[in-house]
Amino acid sequence: MSGIPDKVAERAAALREEIDQHNYRYHALSEPKISDREYDELFRELTELEAAHPELVVPQSPTQRVGSAPVAGFAPAEHEAPMLSLDNGFSDEEIGDFDRRVRERLDEAGPISYAAEPKLDGVAIALQYVDGELVRAATRGDGRIGENVTHSARTIDSVPLCLQGSDYPQRFEVRGEVFMPHDGFEAFNERARAAGEKVFANPRNAAAGSLRQLNPEVAATRPLDIFIYGLARPADVEGLSGHLESLKRLREWGFKINPLARLASGAEGCLAYYREIGELRDELSYDIDGVVYKVDRFAWQRELGQVSRAPRWAIAHKYPAQEQVTTVEAVEWQVGRTGALTPVARLKPVLVGGVMVSNATLHNIDELSRKDVRAGDTVYVRRAGDVIPEVVRVALDRRPPKRTRIPRLPSTCPACGSDVERIEGEAVARCTGGLDCPAQRKEALRHFVSRLAMDIEGLGTKLIDQLVEAKLVETPADIYRLSGEQLLGLERMGEKSVKNLLQSIEKSKQTTLPRLLYALGIREVGEATAASLSEQFGSLEAVQRADEAALQAAPDIGPIVAGHIRAFLRQPRNLSVISRLKEYGVNWPSSEPLTEPAKGKLAGSTFVLTGTLSGMTRNEAKSRIQSMGGKVSSSISGKTSYVVVGDSPGSKAEKARKLGVTELSEDELVEMLGGT
Ligand code: IVH
Repeated sequence: MSGIPDKVAERAAALREEIDQHNYRYHALSEPKISDREYDELFRELTELEAAHPELVVPQSPTQRVGSAPVAGFAPAEHEAPMLSLDNGFSDEEIGDFDRRVRERLDEAGPISYAAEPKLDGVAIALQYVDGELVRAATRGDGRIGENVTHSARTIDSVPLCLQGSDYPQRFEVRGEVFMPHDGFEAFNERARAAGEKVFANPRNAAAGSLRQLNPEVAATRPLDIFIYGLARPADVEGLSGHLESLKRLREWGFKINPLARLASGAEGCLAYYREIGELRDELSYDIDGVVYKVDRFAWQRELGQVSRAPRWAIAHKYPAQEQVTTVEAVEWQVGRTGALTPVARLKPVLVGGVMVSNATLHNIDELSRKDVRAGDTVYVRRAGDVIPEVVRVALDRRPPKRTRIPRLPSTCPACGSDVERIEGEAVARCTGGLDCPAQRKEALRHFVSRLAMDIEGLGTKLIDQLVEAKLVETPADIYRLSGEQLLGLERMGEKSVKNLLQSIEKSKQTTLPRLLYALGIREVGEATAASLSEQFGSLEAVQRADEAALQAAPDIGPIVAGHIRAFLRQPRNLSVISRLKEYGVNWPSSEPLTEPAKGKLAGSTFVLTGTLSGMTRNEAKSRIQSMGGKVSSSISGKTSYVVVGDSPGSKAEKARKLGVTELSEDELVEMLGGT
């Protein structure tokens, strides 16, 4: 390559390979060898090298997942081998019949060896590889012609852009399911709700909508994942005799394969697998709607062939739906830890996916009015994994003819009578009572003692209610002052349970900084953010000293969360809780902060980017600014130092002008970044 020192080109190539390796270990093998931080470090080095020498950038570089500009629409993608669907079975008998048909057609006495796998409830996708590089991703469409979604599929970290090893066919295609894991789905909807944007009814719709995003930069922000479940044409790979063996090969080449796939012997083995996965279903981090059994031996698959659009060698065994119909008895308001008022539908109890459900969240007033849920309505209720059950929609045609009342946001808190306020433009209404409100106090305590926080066993919901009502506990610190006599005076507390509780309270005093930070209940500081704060700053004192800009140096922390942290740690009431916790002997060892605050040339400056840049993508600009110690924020405020204005800028440019923020052209930015 002209002009680039050999050493630099070699280093970039080595970094690409190393990052691909770590990606593979992380996604396909679930055996990461380095920490996220070390990974980020390698990634940053490559980003910087590529930024300094743009000629080094190749499309299959791990930095180029957001490779293209938004696409105008979806080009049709013709499938070389049709994408089939599966027949469904719902009962043990139907699976028995399926197995019998298979044995009769093959003229085998059995038992047949089946490959059994979870059936992901997501979106089917076909990925084509040529010379080990991803060249096309397509949705199923009508099975013959789908849509070309390469631009968004590339942004999924677990989709390899480049394969591992070298013994893959020159050209082949794999099929799999793209899905959105529960935690990502919840977080995504939460953000959308807060921003007043569209929320998705379930993870499947969210996956489909995200994959069909025209803008890869937006798609890249969606938490999608994939499991590959087979080859489009097994004959493309030489020497394979069965399905499970093919999955093993695919994993070696870098694809993410469901670790629950395995062989099952005969109908009996399949049914045992069905029950086993059924037990696991609620703990999985993604939605499944059944399991799939496939005759494992490829020669037999060929012999069995297909009828119309489904193979004779496979069947989906479905689980009971996680969506059910019931009626709403009332719509009530529940007050949460931060005072947020959440409308809750009290339901006629109904079994959903095997669990009795009698309450479902309606999230907030906007959702409540959008879904238009009223007492007496017939509704579809959904639950998935750990996700709180929710009302998906109302069966309007079944609304009782008599007049029904539209539930309204109360003007005073149902728990304490304080005023309810709703900030303009925010979806959430809050009780203004703070810790004077018994409902908020109880929720704050429940959170404080929960398993991932201080983990105080034996301090359950009912006991907390009693402690708050008897005014024995007001703030979390009061827990550490409880005496045996006080506890013995409470309902259902005998000598033994009091002793156990005091012991677990005592045990919780030896805790860790991340647990404490999480337990405090700072708005939007979940476990991951608490861990990241702790890693970055090492001690509570250092977190307290950090200003909003410094807080944002920790991964995951943006201006809003930083604002919540600062506000929390400035409140005298919270400071007193912290100092009393220390006084009562709660302790959390400090550690060395991982990094010194960035001291690059741009340290202390905050940039906002708006409009399209011509010489680099926004992500490139962002990482170059960050690599020199600068910050990049998504919104203009008094703290913004520069706004970089590209082509067709948005409203941010106007706002910047109003606030008198210095404007930079792309050329001026490039100059600041040291050229090229
Ligand atoms: S095999 C010819 N395996 O279910 C075999 N499908 O109704 C075709 N699906 O569109 C599919 N998990 O998107 C297979 N482990 C799995 C699957 C799976 C989910 C989806 C797939 C397909 C639909 C079939």
